[in-house]
Amino acid sequence: MKLGVVILAAGQGTRMKSALPKVLHLVAGRPLVGHVIDTARALGADKVAVVYGHGGDRVQQAINDPALIWAEQAQQLGTGHAVEQAMFAMADMDRVLVLYGDVPLTTQATLNSLIGQSRDSALALLTVTLDNPTGYGRIVREDGRVTRIVEQKDASDAELQISEINTGILIADRARLADWLGRLESNNAQGEFYLTDIVAMAVAEGIEVKTAHPADALEVEGVNDRVQLATLERRYQQVQAEQLMRQGVTLRDPARFDLRGRLQSGQDVELDVNVLIEGEVTLGNGVRVGANTVIRNSRIADGVWIKENCVIEDAVVGADSIIGPFARLRPATTLAEGVHVGNFVELKKSDVAAGSKINHLSYIGDCSIGRAVNIGAGTITCNYDGVNKFRTVIGDHAFIGSDTQLVAPVEVGAGATIGAGSTITRDTPAETLTLSRAKQVSLKGWKRPEKQDN
Ligand code: UD1
Ligand code: MG
Repeated sequence: MKLGVVILAAGQGTRMKSALPKVLHLVAGRPLVGHVIDTARALGADKVAVVYGHGGDRVQQAINDPALIWAEQAQQLGTGHAVEQAMFAMADMDRVLVLYGDVPLTTQATLNSLIGQSRDSALALLTVTLDNPTGYGRIVREDGRVTRIVEQKDASDAELQISEINTGILIADRARLADWLGRLESNNAQGEFYLTDIVAMAVAEGIEVKTAHPADALEVEGVNDRVQLATLERRYQQVQAEQLMRQGVTLRDPARFDLRGRLQSGQDVELDVNVLIEGEVTLGNGVRVGANTVIRNSRIADGVWIKENCVIEDAVVGADSIIGPFARLRPATTLAEGVHVGNFVELKKSDVAAGSKINHLSYIGDCSIGRAVNIGAGTITCNYDGVNKFRTVIGDHAFIGSDTQLVAPVEVGAGATIGAGSTITRDTPAETLTLSRAKQVSLKGWKRPEKQDN
């Protein structure tokens, strides 16, 4: 069975009140339509087509996936018309699954049950019963069998009482679908080509239309405004948080944890409140992360303690290191085991070998630091001359006194000591004290100016 997926994403999304096409708004850091594409792929779809309209270029750029087929719907003439725009791409498919680009949380399990229903029927619908069905198309049944779908605006008072609604998600035999779409008319309350009209056509052909249902109504909820966007975001975060807790991660408060990407974590990982994990992050066994810390695309080894208010991006942190509070590890920072990085320290494109300490108020950029080095408070690597970046190399066991500027390119020898307050512009020898500092003088007889009384 060859499965094609058509994702409808041409709607304007007026209620978002946004310059950004609706389907590019983010849930867990990924565009709405990206979630739907991921789901389609996870189902093993042979082809995935996206029907775009408003802001199409931006959608294609943002999604940037060469395997997708893009179908333009220049004018939004209805859901049936929209699906038809993508049918050229479905020619060699057996079945076509229709998904909505603004309905991000439908699970694979739910869609697999829908696909299962289509095994012995040319048409299966995903439906759900709602306490308040207002606005949705209603599933009309006779003797339990689906006979048609009626849209809210076309429904009679009796039909408006029906609480089983059309989620819009359906799967159909490709050849039949193509035929039905070709016969749609727009003589209805909205003057649109309704995809839903294919149901009555199928029934007229003697097809028993099957239904499947989501495990949770939120799975089929669409995003029309930013309130719904926030609701789905929270729900998605809640599901992820629960999965992590079941895997053995301690979340001090699952309602104050956000994962925008993927987290791989070892045993006994503890995340305090307001931790944000983005991209691909690995946390080893026993990692503790303090409140208000952001970790993006980084690998944190076993036993690391990241204290409060750190920002860590594209970095590697070796086992048993201690970071923060208020530390910033910028891209291409690699720390070996047992490194300490303290408050108001920024590291960029730097390697720090085992056991070294940079505990207070420093900028370390484009730098290699050896083992067991002590970087004093307020040490700055002057790595940039306004045009070029230069490296600083600091040997094993070096001791850099507080408030030192290391003007790169420069190398500090192994075991060297740099006196506090130095500006180091030339390489310094190993095992030697180097300092550059004006000699201290005390002026005898000097008097402070005094205020004159007049
Ligand atoms: C549609 C269904 C309705 C169902 C509801 C579920 C029809 C006629 N009605 O109604 O039965 O209960 O969804 O939310 O199908 N779209 C396009 N091009 C268009 C029109 C829509 O791409 O010309 C896309 C939209 O971007 C959206 C989806 O199709 O992703 C649904 O469109 P929407 O206008 O929300 O459909 P409803 O009228 O709400
Ligand atoms: Mg809608």
